[in-house]
Amino acid sequence: MNLKSKDLLGLKDLSPEEIKYILDTAATMKYVIVSNNKKTPHLQGKSIVTLFYENSTRTRLSFELASKYMGASSANISASVSSVQKGESLIDTGRTINRMGTDIIIMRHPQSGAPHLMAKNVTASVINAGDGMNEHPTQALLDMFTIREKKGTLEGLKVAILGDIYHSRVARSNIWGLIKMGAQVSLAGPATMLPPDIERTGAKVFSTIQEALIDADVIISLRLQLERQKKALFPTVREYSRFFGLDEKRLQLAKKDVLIMHPGPINRGIELTSGVADMESSAIDEQVTNGVAVRMALLYLLTRRGTNETAN
Ligand code: CP
Repeated sequence: MNLKSKDLLGLKDLSPEEIKYILDTAATMKYVIVSNNKKTPHLQGKSIVTLFYENSTRTRLSFELASKYMGASSANISASVSSVQKGESLIDTGRTINRMGTDIIIMRHPQSGAPHLMAKNVTASVINAGDGMNEHPTQALLDMFTIREKKGTLEGLKVAILGDIYHSRVARSNIWGLIKMGAQVSLAGPATMLPPDIERTGAKVFSTIQEALIDADVIISLRLQLERQKKALFPTVREYSRFFGLDEKRLQLAKKDVLIMHPGPINRGIELTSGVADMESSAIDEQVTNGVAVRMALLYLLTRRGTNETAN
């Protein structure tokens, strides 16, 4: 099997079979990360560039390490120190990187759709590492990988996604992906942070987190994205935390073996307490490790399109 597109732009575009294929390949890649010899030849001779117009710790570093573990030549450029500051356009920046023999461009951009525009203008594969409030497909893939690893399946699970849904590209990608893979998705947050028409995706929407938490198998708590708010969407951060924060008491509404997740970075004491973030049933640290495995799988699968190789 091969991925249909040269690019990975969103989970809206992937089939359930493609998602399963990526997660299965990531399971193989995870053996490399936990081994003493983090070196494979899968990307030997390939060239990979990360192009970030927004800050990142997890996504950028995990792509960089994934490239290195697999033997690629990798380079990084931040828009803040590039010729973007001299007025170079997104397309011209992309063409320039493409012309240096790059096989994959991994990009994060504050505008929704920017990676889609890039993908149309370069021959390299483009991976969306987060575009505005649209999608963050590699985050959702690592979230689904983590859930499947811990629960054995995605099908039939009740997943509660809590908090700032409106600004969250992580939520959007997870909603597309989880519903395609047969999970039930419940959303809860302040009314001002619930996108209009989000029910059309098949997710259930609740106005209190208590309702969304009942019998949840998995909870994905979202970061409050104050930097994307153009106007105040709730009275104070303290009020937000009081009504929509996840604490030990509220957790009791979920199933006993509930899995706690957060894409990071965490605002401790706002969207969830430190007690919840660090409890035994939290998979937040494991999500970080799995992010490298999923990104290794994607780099490998995008560069091997058109061949009959397998990762084993
Ligand atoms: N989850 C996530 O995208 O984290 P970074 O912003 O650190 O990449």
